Amino acid sequence: MTNAVYAVTGASGHLGRLAVQELMARGVPSSDIVAIVRTPGRVTDLTQRGVHVRAADYTRPDTLRAALVGVNRLLLVSSSAAGQRLAQHTNVIAAAKTARVSRIVYTSILNADRTSNPLAGEHQDTERVLRQAGLPFIALRNSWYTENYTDRLTQYVEAGEILGAAGHGRISAASRQDYGAAAVAALLQNSQGIRTYELGGSAFDLFELAEAITKVTSTNVRYRDLSVDEYKEALQRSGLDENAAEFVAALDASIARGDLETKSQELEQLLGRPATSLADVIGEAHNHQA
Ligand SMILES: NC(=O)c1ccc[n+]([C@@H]2O[C@H](COP(=O)([O-])OP(=O)(O)OC[C@H]3O[C@@H](n4cnc5c(N)ncnc54)[C@H](OP(=O)(O)O)[C@@H]3O)[C@@H](O)[C@H]2O)c1
Repeated sequence: MTNAVYAVTGASGHLGRLAVQELMARGVPSSDIVAIVRTPGRVTDLTQRGVHVRAADYTRPDTLRAALVGVNRLLLVSSSAAGQRLAQHTNVIAAAKTARVSRIVYTSILNADRTSNPLAGEHQDTERVLRQAGLPFIALRNSWYTENYTDRLTQYVEAGEILGAAGHGRISAASRQDYGAAAVAALLQNSQGIRTYELGGSAFDLFELAEAITKVTSTNVRYRDLSVDEYKEALQRSGLDENAAEFVAALDASIARGDLETKSQELEQLLGRPATSLADVIGEAHNHQA
């Protein structure tokens, strides 16, 4: 397709911003890119680069319909409002249908068909809404962001330990940068119909994460594996309320069951190169936080 117009939701967030930048890096003219945001003031740099910035809120269908006028291909970055996401995503999908968007690329969760991850329900339901909408779509079933861990690098290094209840559960995490680049590859490819990709990098468990941090930062960090109840209590002692602590501990229990591990090579295939290594993501965070 020539002169396709590509839109990215959540373009003020980490992943959406990376996807907009990747579209430009891949040679898409900024005039063919629409960045959909709640607060245009957060992306003035994109406006300056010639990207069309349109304001829309997932909770306001009229704003979504207006933002999607003339758009051919849409990257729907899942909302950060857990618990309200299904209704929000449903609004976006309905607006995309009205606007005759030809393809939606949606950021879902790894192993969506069988996962027990407590965050999965809204992704599974969104995939179902996409199927019912009858639009061509690509579900990018992303594993964890490596940044879920490296954003806490300073804390791990200061404490000398990582606490968790994930046991030897392996996590096929990848960097946001890689997921953003894969999302753009999916947007740009000429495919029809429905496709799902299981996306993740080289798997590690939290013992290996601690070893990798020790090596990169030259500071001893060990992983202390707790029971789910012990981890929940530790999280509460560190300031989380009971519900939040229970939720975070349940995420680790899901990791222990293998929900965030994949042997799929589809991330590498979409990227056309190996995923960024764990050591490199840690190294970047270390340089940034140092
Ligand atoms: N796989 C993982 O490990 C992992 C980890 C964290 C999150 N996620 C999921 O991946 C998504 C992208 O990650 P991220 O790191 O880019 O998250 P993020 O930085 O928090 O960005 C979330 C984006 O969603 C937008 N948004 C939230 N509510 C909205 C609404 N009502 N209307 C319009 N836009 C709204 C935010 O806009 P504002 O800037 O206006 O707030 C922001 O641009 C998250 O939203 C979440 O669903 C996955």
